[in-house]
Amino acid sequence: MRGVQDNHTPPTGDSGKPRPVRTYVRRSGRITESQKRDYDALASRWCVPARDGRPLNFPEMFGNDNPVVIEIGFGRGNATAQIAAGNPGVNYLGIEVFTGGVGHLLGEIRRLGLANLRIIEGDALELLAGRVPDGSVAGFHLFFPDPWPKKRHHKRRLLRRPRTDLLAAKLTPGGGICFVTDIADYALSARAELDATPGLANRFPGFAPRQTWRPETRFEAKGTAQGREPLELVYEKRPESACIPTG
Ligand SMILES: C[S@@+](CC[C@H](N)C(=O)[O-])C[C@H]1O[C@@H](n2cnc3c(N)ncnc32)[C@H](O)[C@@H]1O
Repeated sequence: MRGVQDNHTPPTGDSGKPRPVRTYVRRSGRITESQKRDYDALASRWCVPARDGRPLNFPEMFGNDNPVVIEIGFGRGNATAQIAAGNPGVNYLGIEVFTGGVGHLLGEIRRLGLANLRIIEGDALELLAGRVPDGSVAGFHLFFPDPWPKKRHHKRRLLRRPRTDLLAAKLTPGGGICFVTDIADYALSARAELDATPGLANRFPGFAPRQTWRPETRFEAKGTAQGREPLELVYEKRPESACIPTG
């Protein structure tokens, strides 16, 4: 996060409107040759255009009515691909701004022959607000989102109201959110924000036990190597319902 501008007072763009506070930093030039090759060859087949403007039609996108789980910020997407491969009866939509990661996951889709995974390259929050119908998402996966450790950057965290209200609005009744971080301060604040979000209930008395269906992600492995432990939260849209993102 070094060198990131503090957007506390959002600067104005050419239009004079305040720029939205982003949860990510776009870094150019971080794409390998093979990611670029796979991106160029496969994006037209498996990526859904971000700027189409129409509401997303999931049955049309996947060719079936299976439940849809959205992963926000999949990074390189190895865990995404593994989860999709293990759960062919669930559709997965990965949303990521990092083009290299999109290229990498496209390569995994081809390698594993996945029919139940699509990608949108873009800002997940913009997509949710503008193109995802309310009550249409069975689950959200948020694995190790950027922790934005400095206090003045906390407003960029994904798990923060009103962003959590947006996630809740998009969930089907009984749908769930699975969030994991290895930054204790983020885990605690995310728990408070989710507790305060109307319509959501914690499936566990506090932090969730390790969700065994969840493969280790790249960021998780880095944290483990540095001695950090993952903290998990599983919230449901209705307390009595089963959590679908466990796939
Ligand atoms: C710290 S990385 C974690 C990647 C992966 N989940 C893992 O555990 O290895 C967070 C990722 O979230 C992406 N991201 C952050 N905010 C996003 C947003 N609003 N829409 C899409 N992707 C986002 C970033 O580009 C980055 O790749």
